[in-house]
Amino acid sequence: MTEKIKNWFTNKKLSFLVTGAAGFVGTNLVLRLLELGQSVTVVDSFITGRASNIEYINNFAKENGKTGFFKFIKGDLNAPELCKNVAENIDYVFHEAAIASVPWSLKEPHLFHSNNDAAFFNILNASRLSGVKRFIYASSSAVYGANSNIPSVEDNIGEPLSVYGAAKLTNEIYAKAFFNSFGFESIGFRYFNIYGKFQDPYSAYAAVIPIWVKKILSNERFIINGDGTTTRDFCYVDDIIDINLLAVMYGGEKKADVYNAGSGKSVSLNELVQVLKGFFGNDIQYEHGPFRDGDIKYSQADITKAERELGFNPKFSLKEGLEQTLEYYMGLFK
Ligand SMILES: NC(=O)c1ccc[n+]([C@@H]2O[C@H](COP(=O)([O-])OP(=O)(O)OC[C@H]3O[C@@H](n4cnc5c(N)ncnc54)[C@H](O)[C@@H]3O)[C@@H](O)[C@H]2O)c1
Repeated sequence: MTEKIKNWFTNKKLSFLVTGAAGFVGTNLVLRLLELGQSVTVVDSFITGRASNIEYINNFAKENGKTGFFKFIKGDLNAPELCKNVAENIDYVFHEAAIASVPWSLKEPHLFHSNNDAAFFNILNASRLSGVKRFIYASSSAVYGANSNIPSVEDNIGEPLSVYGAAKLTNEIYAKAFFNSFGFESIGFRYFNIYGKFQDPYSAYAAVIPIWVKKILSNERFIINGDGTTTRDFCYVDDIIDINLLAVMYGGEKKADVYNAGSGKSVSLNELVQVLKGFFGNDIQYEHGPFRDGDIKYSQADITKAERELGFNPKFSLKEGLEQTLEYYMGLFK
């Protein structure tokens, strides 16, 4: 965490709502807010999140004298009444709750419409009505859809290619409309491929790094989808937490805006294998499988706008981020 962020939060006691706090990004965000001495209400339905993450946060709060700073509410944001209750007396909302999977959204579109779209609308509207200062939310690089220009630049998106992408785009449109209609401020982050501690390795829809690391640690063979030239913008979660906190600190003109949130670098799956070999040795077992249907081939964020307007400056190289991540998974699988 940069000194700039630490200093800004010193001597401030703001109240935050974090939705999706039993999930990967949410858990990391809550831990950081508690570390910064802030007061945090969190909500999660556990549709994909883990009770063990909330337990971890609870223990962290106890051990660090922050028990009174943390309140967990189990609930589904599909209920407008719940949204109204959790948004009361909140300064800033971080809306991280959603189901995070493109392929799953193609299998169960209605589930995504309710959890990624209707739920978003409910908490956005409740936040506006309760006088929240700024609504900060997770969008996705899936919004770029059919636009395959690399690196992706905020103003240049394409047709949505999945229900997941359509829901995230709808989120951005509602956020914009709430600013234009009501003056309600928001900042959305188009996350690319985030990795790090607390990312779920067990889900059938787990991301590439947790899947591969879990296989390696269990001495199993992992599969590279395609020939390995597919690229992704992998960003370590602590950098993503930084950019979210910078959105709280933002003091420019009032607006509803979106920013790419990634490392700004592209790494091929073959390069990722090489970095993993650096940790585990050359004899890790893998094979190449077919390309996965619907996967985009290349992905990279242009982060110029976030650097310029928010002062974003991702710190972690892939090697440094993986070092932290592996420590977490080694503890989980020991
Ligand atoms: N992790 C990534 O690489 C990535 C990339 C792009 C976008 N995103 C977006 O970032 C956000 C956080 O992602 P993550 O990786 O932490 O996902 P995650 O699945 O680990 O966490 C999401 C959490 O939201 C909760 N949730 C879902 N629907 C809910 C509802 N209706 N009410 C209450 N809680 C609900 C889940 O139970 C889960 O705990 C999501 O919006 C996701 O779409 C993530």
